[in-house]
Amino acid sequence: MSNDTTLVLGATGKTGRRVVARLRLGGTPVRTASRSSRTRFDWSDPGGWDAALRGVAAAYVVAPPVPGPAHEFVARAEAAGVRRLVLLSGRGADTWGDSTFGLDMRSAEDAVRGSALEWTVLRPSNFAQNFDEDVFHAPLVAGELALPADAVPEPFIDVEDVADAAAAVLTEPGRHAGRVYELTGPRALTFGAAVELISRASGRPLSYRRVSPAEYAASLVEEGLSEDDAQHVAEMFVMMERGLLAGTTDDLATVLGRAPRTFEDYVVRAAAAGAWGRPDGG
Ligand SMILES: NC(=O)c1ccc[n+]([C@@H]2O[C@H](COP(=O)([O-])OP(=O)(O)OC[C@H]3O[C@@H](n4cnc5c(N)ncnc54)[C@H](OP(=O)(O)O)[C@@H]3O)[C@@H](O)[C@H]2O)c1
Repeated sequence: MSNDTTLVLGATGKTGRRVVARLRLGGTPVRTASRSSRTRFDWSDPGGWDAALRGVAAAYVVAPPVPGPAHEFVARAEAAGVRRLVLLSGRGADTWGDSTFGLDMRSAEDAVRGSALEWTVLRPSNFAQNFDEDVFHAPLVAGELALPADAVPEPFIDVEDVADAAAAVLTEPGRHAGRVYELTGPRALTFGAAVELISRASGRPLSYRRVSPAEYAASLVEEGLSEDDAQHVAEMFVMMERGLLAGTTDDLATVLGRAPRTFEDYVVRAAAAGAWGRPDGG
């Protein structure tokens, strides 16, 4: 069997489904995989991994939710004849130090970077789409976002740009080998400023309030997250408040030859699509 398929893990997620659409449009044979995808892939069930890896040339890897399994996955990928791995990690993963944040992504980086395969690591900042497709969405729809973030700005990146970068790296063998790309938006803004832009574009009176990390974690548990997941997200803010991840980089332009999309561009698209209420106010 020839190896020409690109395996996309996390294929139903924010980046994965966008990567899949781009690859298909460009004519790349794609295998979509996750616990609920056509090819069933569960990080906690290695029994299904070899079937997912059969005939695969390149894989887009969204890190497992816990540290560890990526090492075995990389070994199986090598044995299956996979040639390239593109890992989604997080901004500044080598600066997280003694933080408990991102142990899952750091473990996956160790596995991928230690492999004999051609690898590339993508380390994006916080996604703009967290405001309409993820953890910041429900509080905004309720009218107020309360986070343990104050004056330290964040260079939010549009997930469309992450997917453009991933698709480029997956389809350009050799060019990105052994590279770690720190992907950011074009400017950093505070969470308060981000909510202000969303409020203006959506025509809704949305507010921002600073809370402590402990208060934030408690509110996430109330929303239904597990204690562990809530601590994980809260710890991300503790780490971001150190200020080391607030700057922008040129890495997206290095990959794509163009500037990243602005946060304002994201906000008008999401507002027009009704992310925070009907655009006509109805
Ligand atoms: N959000 C951000 O701002 C941000 C920034 C930088 C990095 N990241 C990193 O990005 C990653 C998440 O990527 P994303 O936002 O594209 O995905 P996502 O929207 O969080 O969706 C998660 C994906 O992983 C799959 N999945 C979840 N648990 C799984 C398991 N046990 N086994 C196999 N598949 C599983 C899900 O599909 P099923 O439910 O069908 O399995 C889904 O496709 C995380 O590692 C996060 O740390 C996020």
